[in-house]
Amino acid sequence: MRQIITLPDERLRLAANAVTEFDQQLQALYEELEAAMRAGEGGVGIAATQIGEQQQLVIIDCSTSQRPCENHGLLCLINPEIEVRGAEATLGREGCLSVPDWVGMVPRAKHIRVRYQNLSGEHQSLKCSGFEARVIQHEVDHLYGRLFIDRVISTHDLVRRS
Ligand code: NI
Repeated sequence: MRQIITLPDERLRLAANAVTEFDQQLQALYEELEAAMRAGEGGVGIAATQIGEQQQLVIIDCSTSQRPCENHGLLCLINPEIEVRGAEATLGREGCLSVPDWVGMVPRAKHIRVRYQNLSGEHQSLKCSGFEARVIQHEVDHLYGRLFIDRVISTHDLVRRS
């Protein structure tokens, strides 16, 4: 099982490279990443950055969320690009497997459209809302070395997990 890296590991701050080879190695990375996400408590998303791989690959699965929400099930987003962020923003609670001691209230666009490639390299586009849109924005941030703690409006919005 691959270890999830946590703060203050500097690799969390690196930007990931675009995936260009849609091969067996990518499939293996996907499987390792999914296993790491499933092993993490309450993990509904993970980025390759979090296991120390600087590749633009994230996995999300909001069907396993504690609170039921609208979702597209298990998604593997390769080279994801958030094309459209709706003007409407919502404030919501976020945590991260790489920031185990903190939770925070983070503003995110309520509606997004994301373009990405699947494991076969095919281009796809998806519209998402609410919690699922939040998780995608959080995971795509990881690919640019950004963490949710960078996005809180004030330090009062950051709370230590009890
Ligand atoms: Ni995270």
